Amino acid sequence: MSHSQNHSQGHSLAQSPLTARRSKVLKGRVRVPGDKSISHRSLILSAMTVGETKIAGLLEGEDVINTAKVMRALGAKVERLGEGAWSVHGVGVGGFAEPAGPLDFGNSGTGCRLVMGAVAGCPITALFDGDASLRKRPMKRVLDPLSRIGAHALEMAEGGRLPLKLQGARDPIPIEYASPVASAQLKSAVLLAGLAAPGETIVIEKEATRDHTEKMLTHFGAQVTVEPVGEHGRRVTLKGRPELLPAPLQVPADPSSAAFPLAAALIVPGSEIVLEGVMTNPLRTGLFVTLREMGAEIETLSTKTDGGEEVADLRVKASTLRGVEVPAARAPSMIDEYPILAVLASFAEGTTRMRGLSELRVKESDRLAATAQMLRVNGVDVEIEGDDLIVHGKGRAPGGGVVATHMDHRLAMSALVMGLASEQPVGVDDAAFIVTSFPGFVELMRGLGAELS
Ligand code: S3P
Repeated sequence: MSHSQNHSQGHSLAQSPLTARRSKVLKGRVRVPGDKSISHRSLILSAMTVGETKIAGLLEGEDVINTAKVMRALGAKVERLGEGAWSVHGVGVGGFAEPAGPLDFGNSGTGCRLVMGAVAGCPITALFDGDASLRKRPMKRVLDPLSRIGAHALEMAEGGRLPLKLQGARDPIPIEYASPVASAQLKSAVLLAGLAAPGETIVIEKEATRDHTEKMLTHFGAQVTVEPVGEHGRRVTLKGRPELLPAPLQVPADPSSAAFPLAAALIVPGSEIVLEGVMTNPLRTGLFVTLREMGAEIETLSTKTDGGEEVADLRVKASTLRGVEVPAARAPSMIDEYPILAVLASFAEGTTRMRGLSELRVKESDRLAATAQMLRVNGVDVEIEGDDLIVHGKGRAPGGGVVATHMDHRLAMSALVMGLASEQPVGVDDAAFIVTSFPGFVELMRGLGAELS
């Protein structure tokens, strides 16, 4: 039985606990798997082109595999050619076919919300579903703009949650949408729906969020213009009804996955590792900025452009860290990195205050509460004040706890990294969800010298 089937009924049949122990130096050169955001988009957008797109370096984690299956269910031809190498024959904008059964997105909010947008511009009906974690996450934020475009939820669970039956628009209407939350998923859903509408679809965001959808739409030949709004915002304008043309894609290594070995190398004394080909899109690298402010030795060895994104090899050395203030405006560029930053803040000297984390409450788990709990059970002094997370670092972490991971891959990896440098081992109740974003995590970390068993 596959992992997603295991969990899709709302409980885990096969939990897999794991423990991390204080490790000797971490050494080596590694390349983490492909970027999750770009991998989802490469499958969804190439399925909306006319013709064949070849993708290299696709993340073959469960979240992305579920998106590949969904694209097939919607009529695209999606084939795996080799490791990370995929071919997608698209059906064109507005060309998705009505699926025969429910679309199961497993643990993935990105897959689900982006495909809701893509389906909203097609005259079809589809039932969206996922695992117990995804069934708790808010979908109304996406339905609101999609209903203005002309799509409708025919059925949904309480509070606008999955399972949700969406009827796409027969004649999609272009909208101008001022996004009330800093969410790339929400922005992307509106843009993907807008592809099928005549005229201009406009999304205005107060805080710029990751721009992979905009970049990839341009890569496939759509007309997208991006203008600054205020200090941190953007206005994205998409010209509707383009003919999207296939073009090869190379997926760079995921900075959100690189964060885990990078963090481990910073806190295990004497370590030095090189992370190869990490994407350094500035809308994704808030963690690196913050860590440099904390005193982390992260050296950029070489940079190049790979598939329209900047990538770099990074050398990381064990470092003495100090607590810092992380401004709320930085949150969108490091939204997935707060659990691992909180771990690093425990090993820093002094207080780290991470501001404006309300969006963390609606991730794969309530990551604000779960991150605080992860630290607390391991003897770290931590508080939540409003939407801020405050960690009082003492240059060390006692460890000795077992962390409840709440079906959340990033909590599991963060806790395990902590245990590589804490005084006592750190356990996680369930490491199974790590495969959603980082297949091979345990083997890669062991290859660097991490004690995981
Ligand atoms: C993602 C956007 C972020 C992030 C998620 C991936 C994306 O979510 O947390 O892991 O690929 O667009 P939000 O858009 O909900 O902030």
